[in-house]
Amino acid sequence: MKDRVQFATRIGAIAATVGSAVGLGNIWRFPYEAGQNGGAAFIAIYLLCVVVMGVPVIVAEFVIGRRSHKNVCGALRDLSPKVNMKWLAALCITSAILIISFYSVVCGWIVEYLVQALMGNLSSAHAQDYNTVFVTFISNPYRTVMWTVLFLVANFMVMRRGLKRGVELAANLMMPFLFLLLIVFCVFSLLQPGASKGLEFLFQPDFSAITPRVAVGAMGQAFFSLSLGLSCLLTYASYFKDTDSLVRNASLVAILDTLVAVLAGIMIFPIVFSYDMQPAAGPELIFQVLPAIFQQMPGGYIFAVLFFVLLFMAAITSTISMSEILIAYFSEEFKMTRNGASMLSTGIAIVLGTLCALSFNVISDFKIFGKTLFDLFDYVSSNILLPLGGIFFSIFVGWMLDRKLVLDELSNNGKIRVRTARLIIFSLRYVAPTAIIVVFLYGLGLFGWLN
Ligand code: PFF
Repeated sequence: MKDRVQFATRIGAIAATVGSAVGLGNIWRFPYEAGQNGGAAFIAIYLLCVVVMGVPVIVAEFVIGRRSHKNVCGALRDLSPKVNMKWLAALCITSAILIISFYSVVCGWIVEYLVQALMGNLSSAHAQDYNTVFVTFISNPYRTVMWTVLFLVANFMVMRRGLKRGVELAANLMMPFLFLLLIVFCVFSLLQPGASKGLEFLFQPDFSAITPRVAVGAMGQAFFSLSLGLSCLLTYASYFKDTDSLVRNASLVAILDTLVAVLAGIMIFPIVFSYDMQPAAGPELIFQVLPAIFQQMPGGYIFAVLFFVLLFMAAITSTISMSEILIAYFSEEFKMTRNGASMLSTGIAIVLGTLCALSFNVISDFKIFGKTLFDLFDYVSSNILLPLGGIFFSIFVGWMLDRKLVLDELSNNGKIRVRTARLIIFSLRYVAPTAIIVVFLYGLGLFGWLN
């Protein structure tokens, strides 16, 4: 265990973990999920999910990862020698593969938009045309597949550099800029004429809008956005130092991730309303709305380029963390080199990512349960597999692990005082699993509502 790599610095560990959490989930998915599910009502449930289920489950994953300093499969085997938990590791690996496959397609869209921005095509089009630009692009199988594959190759180049020179360095360089730029965009958006309507949509909850679909969507979004329930945070925590405070790191991740999601909403909805666009537009929302901002901004060209560069970086710090689950697993369980493990996980992602990219064009008629492959991978992973992972991780740490071991881990063997430790264990035993199960069954029992 001594020779296992760790993050070089505490800041680096936090930057990488926040980098995993902050990604397309915040800037691309959160606004359109909120838009489709009633705005503020969705956000209210979302915040509740982050506090009640999110933070405890982050801590649970951190405890397992840091205690064992192993990949998900090795960690569960070490901490639970009697009960075979391989199925949970398999569930996590499956989720990681599904998510990286559809996620890298959207990353490919970002690369396309970055290239268009560089060529000056984004700041010159008319606001009404952005819909056509987007639809024409995603209907093109060659371009969408090409960018998905190139993105995954870029991801591979970072992964093979290793934890410190790849994963940690990328996060340290990128995360501060991301925050700064988001704030600039928010200020601009708030200065738009119709801004107050957007803010109302975002912050005035209409609780009658809450349906099973909204609740399940908000929970799925919380898990997805926090990178929870698929052992991503477990894997990163396995590289934490024994002196890091798990509860503090967990709270930081939850707070910063939520902040970015809300800022993304503030950046997008005022513009949506002032341009008479549809808040419920769906996955294409930011690809249509943001170009409209750039056109209006002084220096729009530079901002368009910067925005997509930064979105790219936010995305890649997230795909890096998904890949790390697979790489840690392949290299430790099958004794592969880091390079070999990176190649294998990239290969899998390229095959499935290509199918997801094609589900917007060539195979758009191929549907399972009424969903294209892209939608299916997204729905199954976020709304089913991640919450299941969350239930099992909370039960594992709350009930199966020795309580003293958990308390030791939270307090770094008594070296730091964590006032919330007992509250977190209580939540892991009772509150988090019950809450997840309730929302889950609420959704499943009323499948008709969910389309
Ligand atoms: N949390 C990321 C986002 O919000 O974009 C997505 C994600 C990253 C999900 C890593 C899962 C994961 F393991």
